[in-house]
Amino acid sequence: MAELMERKLIKSIGVSNFSAQQMKNAWETLDKKGIPLASNQVQYNLLNRKIESNGVMEMAKKLGITIIAYSPLAQGLVTGKFHDKPELLANIGFRKYRAQFKPKGLEKSKPLIILIQELAHNYSVTPSQIALNWLINFHGDTVIAIPGATKETHAKENTGAMSFRLSDTDMARLDKESEIFK
Ligand SMILES: NC(=O)c1ccc[n+]([C@@H]2O[C@H](COP(=O)([O-])OP(=O)(O)OC[C@H]3O[C@@H](n4cnc5c(N)ncnc54)[C@H](OP(=O)(O)O)[C@@H]3O)[C@@H](O)[C@H]2O)c1
Repeated sequence: MAELMERKLIKSIGVSNFSAQQMKNAWETLDKKGIPLASNQVQYNLLNRKIESNGVMEMAKKLGITIIAYSPLAQGLVTGKFHDKPELLANIGFRKYRAQFKPKGLEKSKPLIILIQELAHNYSVTPSQIALNWLINFHGDTVIAIPGATKETHAKENTGAMSFRLSDTDMARLDKESEIFK
């Protein structure tokens, strides 16, 4: 990738699903050539905060690497639509086999979903916008998100996550309620 940069075939370098140690190795290798490591694309959402306990977030902040959060809506779960209408689970393909989509998983995330829905009501926005807003602001400038969409309305709705700012108190409430997913 450094060679591609030097030959001006690419403008920046990002990796995906790298551990903290892999990020450090890649950063050091590129740094010797004066090239920055721009990003690491990893799964990160309110229902999966593992990168905050496995060193990835810490390393990203230390080295100035952007975290690109994939599955930032936990594949739709944080919107609460599957909690409110479990019948939707019948037609969502492979997702329904994941632990988080099974009854026990839904029960575990229910308190967080209730809080997200309460905040959505208070801010006159949608649950997906609350979840994304938290994700892209809680760690300062470190995280950006790439939500997926099956409908044009999803894409429009999700961009609305940038149109408001959660208060520090509400950010902290979401942090506390989702700590079990670290
Ligand atoms: N680097 C990697 O290893 C890796 C791995 C996985 C994904 N990714 C990337 O991450 C991106 C997105 O991830 P993702 O699609 O897995 O997860 P996501 O963004 O967490 O969830 C997207 C899904 O949630 C539902 N949704 C989206 N917006 C919604 C809204 N406003 N209201 C209600 N439901 C909504 C849609 O599915 P339904 O309508 O069917 O519910 C949509 O397909 C993609 O670009 C993908 O390529 C990268």
